[in-house]
Amino acid sequence: MSENPLAPQHLRFPTDPSALTARIWPASATRTDDGELVVGGVTASDLVAEFGTPLYVVDERDVQSRAVRVRNAFTEAFERIGTRAHVYYAGKAFLTTQVAAWMVAADLRVDVCTGGELAVALAGGVDPALLGFHGNDKSDAEIARAVAVGVGTIVLDSHEEVQRVARAAADAGVVQRVRIRINSGVHASTHEYLATAREDQKFGIPLTEAVTAAEAVRAEPSLVFVGLHSHIGSQIFDESGFREAARRLMDVHATLVATGPVPELNLGGGWGIDYTEADSAFEPEDVADALATIVAEACAERDIPVPEIAVEPGRYIVGPAGITLYRVGTIKPVTLADDDHAPATRTFVSVDGGMSDNARPALYGADYTARLARTSDAPAVLTRVVGKHCESGDIVVNDEYLPGDVHRGDLLAVAATGAYCWSLASNYNHVGRPPVVAVADGVPRILVRGESIDDLLARDTGVVPGA
Ligand SMILES: Cc1ncc(COP(=O)(O)O)c(C=O)c1O
Repeated sequence: MSENPLAPQHLRFPTDPSALTARIWPASATRTDDGELVVGGVTASDLVAEFGTPLYVVDERDVQSRAVRVRNAFTEAFERIGTRAHVYYAGKAFLTTQVAAWMVAADLRVDVCTGGELAVALAGGVDPALLGFHGNDKSDAEIARAVAVGVGTIVLDSHEEVQRVARAAADAGVVQRVRIRINSGVHASTHEYLATAREDQKFGIPLTEAVTAAEAVRAEPSLVFVGLHSHIGSQIFDESGFREAARRLMDVHATLVATGPVPELNLGGGWGIDYTEADSAFEPEDVADALATIVAEACAERDIPVPEIAVEPGRYIVGPAGITLYRVGTIKPVTLADDDHAPATRTFVSVDGGMSDNARPALYGADYTARLARTSDAPAVLTRVVGKHCESGDIVVNDEYLPGDVHRGDLLAVAATGAYCWSLASNYNHVGRPPVVAVADGVPRILVRGESIDDLLARDTGVVPGA
């Protein structure tokens, strides 16, 4: 067997289709002597015997060590330039009460963007003063709740929110710390739906209107202006976007320093992770050093104090620490031929989940890496791993070489599903969302139970009890 002409250029024919490349799989992922996949000291078959498939599995230690690594990288880089760094975990990537508690244990703050995420973070024991609250369309109720519980900073996303948050704070008799989210106009090189600082999108206030917005905040006695915020997008590999956004923000920051205090600057998240061999993520230490250098130089040039820095990564912390286990079902070889190449076969491997537990391939054309839970010497074949939903776009892994003896009943693992999979999950086709299990030291622990058919029927008022 050899390279399949239907394979995309970035997918190389593997020397070993069972290999677990360290930068793609959770830190604890390995194989037993018999070749079975193990995460957190628990074999895939044991996990599935207890919790079924599909199953989200999170390497608890990996999440914690990634969180600590980011915190240390930023603390050290910004200490070198004489200031402090605050790392917020972006809860939208994956938030349960236990995940929130891990972040507290790692000394991270938490960023939420809805009343629901706020409730989970609080239930997970996050000190409200260490929460950031985002959102381009916060309801009055969400703002009132955030103010009432004492959220550390609210990130204002529009001019009208200045007055709305000021009123809520005044009504509650408190002074609320706020940031202003700026649309820096930096076009991050990522999928269009993941780029959040292009001009023609919904987030933030344009750079040119930042001073007006900050003056409006400063005029409100119930608000304290903490600083500017920028998040240019997600799954970004090109550092230059972060550098450029930081430079642009520093220009406005300096203008505002001339007229009042601006203690902090929030540079967002968005660092890419390796989903496939073709990706090459940068190290958090490199991002931290690059940003510290830019901030230090910008402050020295303008002779202004170095602000405290905040960042808010999500994907980097949880993405590579998670996998999803599926059971293989129908296998269908499809032979194609066109003008460009001779007949070639793509093998469609169906699994018992799909776009309801991982919307990213359908939403962003995202690529993933898959491996069978067992090893095999069978020659690799080009496969497309697909779900069980009634959509041809229900793809789990677009292109992957799997052992040619893949068969119904096999367990299949998809790597790097820790971020934006469970949090984007749906009940499409009335498929229940899978459970989430944390593994560490050979012990699995359920974080969120899966949804049963009873759960799916529970909110349907037409269901006749006992029928
Ligand atoms: C405002 C904001 N901050 C942080 C993040 C986290 O991004 P990532 O998970 O890519 O680090 C996002 C993601 O969309 C975001 O919108």
